[in-house]
Amino acid sequence: MSETLAIIKPDAVASGRTGAILAHLEGAGFRIRALRMTRLNRAQAEAFYAVHRKRHFFRSLVSFMTSGPIIPIVLEADDAVPRFRKAIGATDPAEAAAGTVRALYAESRERNAIHGSDSDANAAAEIAFFFSGSGRLAL
Ligand code: RTP
Ligand code: MG
Repeated sequence: MSETLAIIKPDAVASGRTGAILAHLEGAGFRIRALRMTRLNRAQAEAFYAVHRKRHFFRSLVSFMTSGPIIPIVLEADDAVPRFRKAIGATDPAEAAAGTVRALYAESRERNAIHGSDSDANAAAEIAFFFSGSGRLAL
């Protein structure tokens, strides 16, 4: 078993899709190991997405990700990172495979409902970003 970090993004939280997305993920075989609701400030969002700081969409992405509450989740499954990327689908919902979270719930390429870590190393770093120290209960 391995872990990945998911984030239900501000668009999906605001539009009341949280429960449907959690049910979808559990139904797809992911086990919820930790979960919280929080809201990023600008410095936190810039740090989380630092890898994208030179991209044309960076400012807009930071503005979107700070626009409302988000729900970071630690998910466990066999090969969690690639399996979860497959379950959420392509970045742009117009390109996401049928039945994926983004095909079902995303509004646009930016407002795309959910985040998923893209490597085991990034999953570990992103889990530590949201669930460090005593913030994560012992399992
Ligand atoms: P994520 O990191 O959120 O799981 O998404 P991803 O790997 O599929 O996409 P990535 O390239 O890492 O981009 C991070 C997030 O930035 C927004 N984005 N906007 N306007 C645009 O062209 C554009 N491209 C990306 C999306 O919210 C994307 O998930
Ligand atoms: Mg990414």
